[in-house]
Amino acid sequence: MRVVSGIQPTGNLHLGNYLGAIRNWVRMQDEITADGNGRAQVAGGGSAPKNQCLFFLADLHAISQPHVPAELYRGSLEMTAALVACGIDPARSILFNQAQVPQHAELQWLLSGTARMGWLNRMTQWKDKAGKNREGQSVALFSYPVLQAADVLLYQATHVPVGEDQKQHLELARDIAQKFNNDFAPRNENGEDVPIFTLPEPFIPPVAARIMSLRDGSAKMSKSDPSDLSRIDLSDDAETVMRKIKKAKTDPEPLPGELAGLVGRPEALNLVTIYAAVSDRSAEDVLREFAGQGFGAFKPALGELLVETLRPISQRFTELLEDRESLDAILAKGAARARTLAGPTLDSVYRALGLVRA
Ligand code: TYM
Repeated sequence: MRVVSGIQPTGNLHLGNYLGAIRNWVRMQDEITADGNGRAQVAGGGSAPKNQCLFFLADLHAISQPHVPAELYRGSLEMTAALVACGIDPARSILFNQAQVPQHAELQWLLSGTARMGWLNRMTQWKDKAGKNREGQSVALFSYPVLQAADVLLYQATHVPVGEDQKQHLELARDIAQKFNNDFAPRNENGEDVPIFTLPEPFIPPVAARIMSLRDGSAKMSKSDPSDLSRIDLSDDAETVMRKIKKAKTDPEPLPGELAGLVGRPEALNLVTIYAAVSDRSAEDVLREFAGQGFGAFKPALGELLVETLRPISQRFTELLEDRESLDAILAKGAARARTLAGPTLDSVYRALGLVRA
């Protein structure tokens, strides 16, 4: 498996990012394979080859919306520290930022001849972010998914671990790859097409693929939510985590014994989902334990579970942040490895398009 995924270095790493994506990134560094349903399973017998993993900060994506340059720089170093604190090992995985690998932007342009306006117009993230003011948005926000396609196609990714909200972007990447292969794949001596791009599979966790806001069970937990109480950041201290969980929106009913009893109770379902994901149990199992109990009992248990899980991550994060030179060095080394891997695919794309390079 060649595993590729990215995260925007804007704002803090939150629990949604961690449970929906980053925890799977860490697991996929080990000898873990994907079954057909996007579930991670440990490869048997130790004979399976290790996955090759590339994880990056999507800093080029971050300029598609208004931003403060100094904050983007600081955010990139902080996100690097956060990823390493979560368990991304720069010795085993290639960890870098897009801006140091110009092939991402280069391939985006080359794919822009294949991507269709109609495809991009249908992207729900574009519609949500642009709202009623499409004319006032940057061109980069519109063509954002083409850069995302370039990010994974550049490395012939086979698996892309992401949360549910990125599924549509991944489907677009597959459409672009398929059309490019159809239109431009060269023929071998037997007259058969030799595809340029591998079609990447999204790898979406069966639970926690969409963690919701703590203040509104119908909105996803997001860095851009103006309310700090809507999310748990991985850098939050124990007191903050307990306070945010205490203030999380719920309903007055006790917890049911079965999942069916959470229908129409999105906030309750979200908290149970978080508990289950963090403790690596099924939601049914959690409900069996807490059936009949109210949130007065469930919330402190969830808060403590989160504090225990986050404590080592936030400690490591704080230590790593003190050594900015090491963080810069991690990104520089990762970028050098990524540039080397990107070369052959980009060369074949230029050739396939009939673009002459000396
Ligand atoms: P970003 O930075 O918004 O989020 C990073 C990862 O976290 C997941 N995620 C969530 N999962 C569960 N519940 C949530 N509430 C939640 N919020 C975020 C996202 O699905 C994502 O996996 N466009 C991407 C970054 C990107 C990328 C790529 C990803 C750029 N190029 C290529 C994969 C492959 C983004 O903005 O993710």
